[in-house]
Amino acid sequence: MCAYADLLAVERTGGDGTDLLSVLLRAEVDGDRLTPMDIDLFFMLLMNAGSETTRNLITGGMLTLFEHPAERARLQDDLTLVPTGIEEMLRWITPVTHFRRTARADTELGGQEIREGDKVVMWYSSANRDERHFPDADHLDVGRTPNEHVAFGAGGPHFCLGASLARLEARVMFEELLTRLPGLEPAGPMRRLGSNFINGIKALPVRVA
Ligand code: HEM
Repeated sequence: MCAYADLLAVERTGGDGTDLLSVLLRAEVDGDRLTPMDIDLFFMLLMNAGSETTRNLITGGMLTLFEHPAERARLQDDLTLVPTGIEEMLRWITPVTHFRRTARADTELGGQEIREGDKVVMWYSSANRDERHFPDADHLDVGRTPNEHVAFGAGGPHFCLGASLARLEARVMFEELLTRLPGLEPAGPMRRLGSNFINGIKALPVRVA
């Protein structure tokens, strides 16, 4: 992938393209530019962040609909619910389970003392089932509104760069799955990914009924 990124970088250096790579190649902050190694690593970040997440939202979303036939029927009967349905899948599945930050100052959070330099893990999967925030948090509701989940992070400078793309991909995918393959059903045991970071599925056999 780095070799591919290098090829694209040669092609786009000096151009005025508006694609992400061209913008990164031109980017300058206080006179600093990204080195070829930075570009390679950013490209890899985009590959990993953009694939490991979205496909697990889609597979996990399909599994969730298999497990909740009434909610699946609601979506199938009314495709205008797909956008809120996707937000509920994001909350329910939370494809990225956590990220870690380092505290820059002493503080207190939820009664817990945190010292400058402490490493703090933010469990998005826990926050997304917080019953103080989501009424009936363990109930799947494809029409849930509001739905202020933190599957893409909770705002701030590291909020997911690809959130809009991921939402679009999932919406298109489920609109098509629900209309083109309405009889899709499980066809064998599902295999989960062994990971404490990505809530992923390695295999979900299905058949078209
Ligand atoms: C369902 C799909 C996705 C989920 C659940 C997801 C989730 C996340 C989460 C939780 C973070 C960290 C936020 C934080 O630390 O505050 C993040 C960051 C990021 N995501 Fe996504 N993501 C998804 C899709 C994508 C896609 C499609 C792309 C790009 C093609 C992408 C690119 C990135 C990048 C570059 C960052 C790092 C941003 C930064 O540190 O400044 N993500 N994502």
